[in-house]
Order: sequence, then C-alpha cells, then structure tokens
Amino acid sequence: MCSALLLGAALLLGLYALVSRGLRRPAPPRARPPLRGRTAIVTGGSGGIGAATALELARCGARVILAARSAPRGEAAARRIRTETGNAEVRFMHLDLASLRSVRAFASAFLREEPHLHLLINNAGVSAGGRTEDGYGLTFQVNHLGHFLLTQLLLERLQRSAPSRVVIVASRAHCSGRLDPAALGRPVRGALQTFQAYCDSKLANVLHARELATRLQGTDVTCYAVHPGFVNTELFRHLPRWLKPLFVPLAWLFFRTAAEGAETPLHCATQEGLERFSGRYFADCRPQEPWPPGRDDGLARALWEASERLVGLVPHLPPAPAARGQ
Ligand SMILES: NC(=O)c1ccc[n+]([C@@H]2O[C@H](COP(=O)([O-])OP(=O)(O)OC[C@H]3O[C@@H](n4cnc5c(N)ncnc54)[C@H](OP(=O)(O)O)[C@@H]3O)[C@@H](O)[C@H]2O)c1
Repeated sequence: MCSALLLGAALLLGLYALVSRGLRRPAPPRARPPLRGRTAIVTGGSGGIGAATALELARCGARVILAARSAPRGEAAARRIRTETGNAEVRFMHLDLASLRSVRAFASAFLREEPHLHLLINNAGVSAGGRTEDGYGLTFQVNHLGHFLLTQLLLERLQRSAPSRVVIVASRAHCSGRLDPAALGRPVRGALQTFQAYCDSKLANVLHARELATRLQGTDVTCYAVHPGFVNTELFRHLPRWLKPLFVPLAWLFFRTAAEGAETPLHCATQEGLERFSGRYFADCRPQEPWPPGRDDGLARALWEASERLVGLVPHLPPAPAARGQ
C-alpha cells in the first residue's frame, strides 16, 4: 500500500516536471551588452514583467525611468532596483496610460528633463472592464491607445538618440483579436467582453509594431512586438472570483516567473543585429509568424490612422459630402 502511494506520488511529480517544462519553456538567460550611457523608459515598471525588465536594464548600467501610475509602487520599485543593482540612475515618473492628459504630461516632463531616449519598452497592460476619462474602453486605451500616443510624442527624441528601439509587449492572445477600425476602443462589460478587448488590444500591439517599422524605414529606430510567455504576475487580478481557485494554482505551477517573462523583451531591447527584424513578432527570443490578422498590412494602416484620430493627433473629420449620402 505504502509503496503504491510512493509510486503514485513519484509519477505525479514526474508528470508535473514534464508538463511544467513543456509549458514554461523559458528561454535561457543571455549575456547582455553593457548599457551605460543609454536611457530606457519601461511603462508599468512598478511590478511584474516590467519591474523584472527594468531590473536587468539597470543591472547592465542603463539609466532607467519607471513610468508607472502608482507613486508608492513606482518609488518602491525604483528604490529596490537601485539597492539591488547599485545603479543610482533609476527613477520613477508618473504615467497613467488610462488618461491621454497624463500621457501628454509625462511626455512633456520627460522631454524637458531627459536629453536622451534609446529604449522605449511599452510594457504596461491590464485586462479589466471599465471606461477611461477619455471615454474609451480601459483595456484598449491602456494597452494600445495610450502607448500609441506616448510613442508618437517621444519619436523625435528616439530618432535624435538613434540607434534606438521600441519594444511593444504584446501577447499570443492576439490570435483571438478582432479589430474594426471604425469601432475601436468601445467600453466593454463582463468577463467575456473584457477578455475579447484584451485580445483585441494585443492584436493592436502586434499591428502597431508592424506599421511603426514601415514608417520608420530608413531611420535608425527599430521596433518589435513580443510575447513574454505565460507569466505568473498580477495581470490576472481582475479575473472573475469563481475562476481564481482554478487559475491561481495553475499559474503558480506552470507559468514563468517575471524574470523569465522579461527575457524576450530584454532580448529585443538589447541583442545586437536585430535591426533586419524590425516590425516582427518575437516569442522565446526568436522572430515568429504572428497569426494571420497580425500580418494584415491594410489593417495595420487603418488601425494607425484610427488611433491618430482617437488620441487627437489628427482632427476628427466629418465624413466627406459624397460619402454622407451613401
Ligand atoms: N502575464 C502574462 O502571462 C502575460 C502574457 C502575455 C502578455 N503579457 C503582457 O505583459 C505586460 C506586462 O504584464 P504583467 O504580466 O507584468 O502584468 P502586471 O503584473 O499586472 O503588471 C502590469 C503593469 O502595468 C501597470 N499598469 C496598469 N495600468 C496602468 C495604467 N493605467 N498606467 C500605467 N501603468 C499601468 C501596472 O501598474 P500598477 O502597479 O499601478 O497596477 C503594472 O506595473 C502586459 O502588456 C501584458 O499584456 C503578460
């Protein structure tokens, strides 16, 4: 009886090890180049994958700006990274991506106070219902629109500091994304719609990198969309209560750690020789084909133009008279 129990436990452990290795498959940590003299912004750098990314950039000597919405969490993360790395050039700056006003205020303060920008890591993300002060769905604005505006406002500084890079933390969830450029960013309700909005925003991330790369051709600024893997962070804090007992143990057992999840964003930010892959989608530190909607150049262009209108970079025009009667 006792030996049967022991055998059962050993089999279960073996099975766990096999499944866990298969699912997590973290890329091995890589040697990174020294980054002294380089300045990086990491949005959502106060926790999860963003904090792990910021820690590594600071360890390599970069000046790192943690752009986060919570001052206590942002200040605490900056302090922890300074202590852990001995790099004093890590600072918190306030940025709430759910407010276009806050994005503009952050960009102005950054441009006033920081002469260089070599790495922009658009990492912050949520999966939650609700409406922002600008009237858009929270998830779509934080994950895509806010980052779109931020990137546009900082583009000239990136170009002046070139060679420079933009890394957009997307997700494999883009495979279920559906985007209608005429109806972007509508607020959503309920668990299913919220999940769909998350997938839509991640498809927008993949297409944003694609179109940005096209528009930056001939400059020394390149950009990449990345899937960090499935990572045990606070991203899933807004899951329905009934799902948590199932989800939390799974995440704890099988998902990557935040440091493992940071490997692909760090690879795209620092690895030499990636310029020819600008606009591509990376997972496990390798360029991979995104799902078909993530390769749709027409959709990428339409998303770009709609995003410009929604964030107020070009005016909302009434439909042309000819189109009105149609
Ligand atoms: N975890 C995964 O399995 C997974 C898989 C694929 C892709 N991703 C992507 O990875 C990125 C990082 O997510 P994570 O897993 O590290 O999640 P996380 O632990 O929840 O961290 C998200 C970060 O975003 C910040 N944030 C949220 N709303 C914000 C806002 N309005 N303005 C500014 N910052 C805001 C959070 O700040 P607060 O501390 O103030 O909340 C936090 O620092 C996201 O883009 C996510 O979509 C994650």
